Amino acid sequence: MSDSELYTRKVPRHVAIIMDGNGRWARKRGLPRFAGHKAGLDSVRAMVKVCLSQGVEYLTLFAFSSENWRRPAEEVGLLMNLFMTALDREVKKLHKHHVRLRIIGERTAFAPELQQRIAAAEQLTADNTALTLIIAANYGGRWDITQATRGLAEQAARGEIAADTITPELIESRLSLAGLPEPDLFVRTGGEQRISNFLLWQLAYTELYFTPLLWPEFDDKAFAAALEFFAGRQRRFGRTGEQVEQMLDA
Ligand code: IPE
Ligand code: IPE
Ligand code: MG
Repeated sequence: MSDSELYTRKVPRHVAIIMDGNGRWARKRGLPRFAGHKAGLDSVRAMVKVCLSQGVEYLTLFAFSSENWRRPAEEVGLLMNLFMTALDREVKKLHKHHVRLRIIGERTAFAPELQQRIAAAEQLTADNTALTLIIAANYGGRWDITQATRGLAEQAARGEIAADTITPELIESRLSLAGLPEPDLFVRTGGEQRISNFLLWQLAYTELYFTPLLWPEFDDKAFAAALEFFAGRQRRFGRTGEQVEQMLDA
């Protein structure tokens, strides 16, 4: 992709979402928090569909953070079950719609059975090209940068690389999203305006959109508003607005 395409594109190529507010959605209805997580799955389906129809190429969803283990054991267990049943139920459908599924995060913490299903789902859908759906599960931006750094340090210790060859590009090549375009648009539902250890490295130049809507309430219309916000931004990547305008006129 050329430089100017990055400045001009009106539909984000890569959307990254913090799906927050499930618990509050349930509590508002007098339901257990878990009911909110279940309802949140419908929003995931809707987002996949709308990304397919809008031509978004990569959709990264934050499903479970490295810090979410701090939640009550019961909620963590229910979330793991939901993850497992969702994988079982949805993978075929995703495959049918030519969606490639990828899971990023420290997966060794998951039950062996879940790890197997993740690997099988990734394998099945590996060659699909309509949309890449990336689920961040047991993911943390700090974990990601740490594991990349560790890998490079090991290579350096073995004498395979010299310290002065470590560049941002080399670090990027070791991150979970290596080789994929950085997110153009970040969305966080649920009203909080924070990153909560999501894609720390990759969000450097991402347009940030926050909405008070709770994740189970986030529908096509809400996403359309986020896309409209994105289309209205002038991305500058450090340049001046005048430089960007000149580039677009050329
Ligand atoms: C986001 O919803 C889903 C996960 C973190 C798994 P929350 O469960 O954080 O919902 P709130 O923020 O408590 O409402
Ligand atoms: C971020 O939401 C993680 C996910 C949506 C998976 P949290 O609800 O865990 O974030 P904090 O704790 O409010 O920052
Ligand atoms: Mg939350």
